[in-house]
Amino acid sequence: MDYCLICTKCACVYERDSSIFRCGKCGGILEVSYDYSTLKLPKRFANAKISQKKYVPLFPVSGKLASLGEGGTSLDKAQIKGLDDNGTKLYLKVETGNPTRSFKDRGSSVEITKALEFGYTDIVCASTGNMGLSLATYSKENNMKCTIFMSRNGNREKMERIKRAGGIVIKVDGDFNAATTLAERYAKAKGAFACGDYHYRKEGQKSVAYEIVEQLHYNVPDYIFIQVGNATLIAAMYKALREFRRLKFIRKLPKLVAAQSKECDPLVRAFDSNGKIRHIAPRTIADAIAVGYPTFGNEGLEAVKKTRGAAQSVDDKAIKHYGAVLENELGVLSEPGGAAGFACFMENYACNKKAFEDKEVVVIITGNNEHRKDD
Ligand code: F0G
Repeated sequence: MDYCLICTKCACVYERDSSIFRCGKCGGILEVSYDYSTLKLPKRFANAKISQKKYVPLFPVSGKLASLGEGGTSLDKAQIKGLDDNGTKLYLKVETGNPTRSFKDRGSSVEITKALEFGYTDIVCASTGNMGLSLATYSKENNMKCTIFMSRNGNREKMERIKRAGGIVIKVDGDFNAATTLAERYAKAKGAFACGDYHYRKEGQKSVAYEIVEQLHYNVPDYIFIQVGNATLIAAMYKALREFRRLKFIRKLPKLVAAQSKECDPLVRAFDSNGKIRHIAPRTIADAIAVGYPTFGNEGLEAVKKTRGAAQSVDDKAIKHYGAVLENELGVLSEPGGAAGFACFMENYACNKKAFEDKEVVVIITGNNEHRKDD
C-alpha cells in the first residue's frame, strides 16, 4: 500500500521510503499515513489463517516480512469465579506465545524488514528489556549488529538474555528517556537504523488488535485493557481498530483502557488533570513499563479519550497479587509489566461489578519473565 510519513507535531510530510525516525524539522513523532485507495486485500482475507504475515497488506513493507513466526497468539476465555454469574466474558490475549515471549516481536518484524529494505546492517534501540531482547533475536537471524541502550530500571535477567542472543548492551545510568536520547545519538553518529518506539514499530503492533477482532469473529468487545509504557501499543491498537472500521469489518470501537503502575503513571496523571503529559521518575516493580515520559503519550491519550475509555493506575502490590492469580488460577505466566492491565480490570470489577454486567472484556498479557534452559 502506498504511504508517506507525516509529523504528528508540525504536519511536515516525508516520502514513502524515508528512513528517518523523527521529524527532521521539529523532532516530532512520525505517523505512517496510507493511501487506502491503493490497498489490495486478498478476496478471502477475512477467512485466512491468523498470523502476522496475513496483515502484510496493512503494513508499510514492500515484500516479504522478516519473520520468526510472531503473531497468531491465543485468545482464551478466562474462568474466574463470579464473572460468569454476572454475564461478564473475560478473554486473555496471551502475547507470551510470541517467539521471544512478548508482543514486541510484532513490531520487530516490521522494523527489521524496513532496516533490510533500507540496506542497514547495524541497528540500535533503547529498552527496558523486552524490546531489546526481541530486536537482538531478529537481528541475529538477519545477520545484523544490534546495540541496546538499557535503562537503569531495566530488567537485569533480560539484559543477560539480550547478550546471549548476540546483542551488545550499553547500561545507561538514567531512565528509559535518557536511554532513548543516547540511542538516537548513536544512530546519528554511527549511521545505524534507530529501532524502538517509532512509527514502523507501531505499524507492526497493530496486529494485536486485528487478531482480537478476528478471533471474536468480527464482534467488537466492550473493553480492552492495555498496560502502557511508551503508549506505542495502545496507539497502534487504536489505529488498527480505526482501519478495520474503515474497511467495514467492524462498525464501532471498543473502549480502550490504559493501565499504568501508580509508581509510574504519567499518562494517567495527564488524563485525570486533562492536562499535558509530564515526565516523572519511574520506580515501579513493573520494570517493563517503567517509562517516565511516553513517546506516544499524546496518541495514547487520544485513544482512551476518543473511545470513551480511561487511563487508570494500579499499585505495585495489586500488580503482584493479580500476577499470582494469573499464574496460580489460570496457568498464565506473566511479568509485572505484562499483568498491569489484568490487575486494573480486576480492581475495576471488584469496585463496580455492575459496569461489566453482560460485557465482553479483553485483557492483553503482554510479556513474561519465564526462564528456559535454552535462553
Ligand atoms: N508490556 C510489556 C511486557 C512491555 O515490555 C512493554 C514495553 C509494555 C507492556 C508497554 O508497551 O511501551 O508500547 O506502551 N516495553 C518497552 C521495552 C518499553 O523496552 O521493552 P508500550
